[in-house]
Amino acid sequence: MPKRRPLVAGNWKMNLSRAGCRGLAAALRTRLASLERVQTAVFPAFPYLVDVAEVLEGSAIALGAQDLAVQDEGAYTGEVSGGMLRDVRCRLVLVGHSERRYSMGENDTLVAAKLRAALRAGLTPVLCVGETLAERERGETFQVLERQLGTATEGLSARELDGLVVAYEPVWAIGTGVHASPGQAAEAHAFVREVVSQRVSRELADALRILYGGSVKASNARELLASDEVDGALVGGASLTVEAFAPIVEAAIAN
Ligand code: PGA
Repeated sequence: MPKRRPLVAGNWKMNLSRAGCRGLAAALRTRLASLERVQTAVFPAFPYLVDVAEVLEGSAIALGAQDLAVQDEGAYTGEVSGGMLRDVRCRLVLVGHSERRYSMGENDTLVAAKLRAALRAGLTPVLCVGETLAERERGETFQVLERQLGTATEGLSARELDGLVVAYEPVWAIGTGVHASPGQAAEAHAFVREVVSQRVSRELADALRILYGGSVKASNARELLASDEVDGALVGGASLTVEAFAPIVEAAIAN
């Protein structure tokens, strides 16, 4: 099977100022200019998308947003639609990040609706799935992944889901400094691929890029990305400086 082109994505979360976003985007543009074998993407906060789009114009670094509304337009105060994100040159969008699931109360049904909204807008969804520590300790990891993936993809065809990216992010590894072992990541990724194969199609599963996320940094990126099952990384804390992020992108190429 041909290895999928890795994607290394930086989730900037609710961090950085306008000037900080512009500066980081410009530094990444310079540092990553010659890296063709890996796709990179950054996910700034909403107010800075236009600035970052401008700085990245004509570069290979893709722009993404951290969330989107279920609805396409209308009286939804505070929401941002997929169409608006497209309008400011976003190509990707995170859907169902665990901070939204567990801090903002997004459930599987809402995440599924957001996935559909992203597809309607022509955005590439990065669907985030992953178990909590309690779920892992109870031996429910696979059950949780199956439920999250199943609800999200229910009724969608391989054609509709073409280009989908999944991020396996065990909740206990996000922002904690404790990352999954390479074996745990590879096992979960293989399971995700199998679920997608069973529920959607083998073809989609083979093409599916599954990123690992949760305390990825320069010192562990190489071992985490070594498995054929791991097609890149979704990086939070270590995506906020060029010195921390660039070596992770380089590690994805080295594998
Ligand atoms: P982290 O965050 O790299 O800071 O653990 C990952 C994520 O939330 O996507």
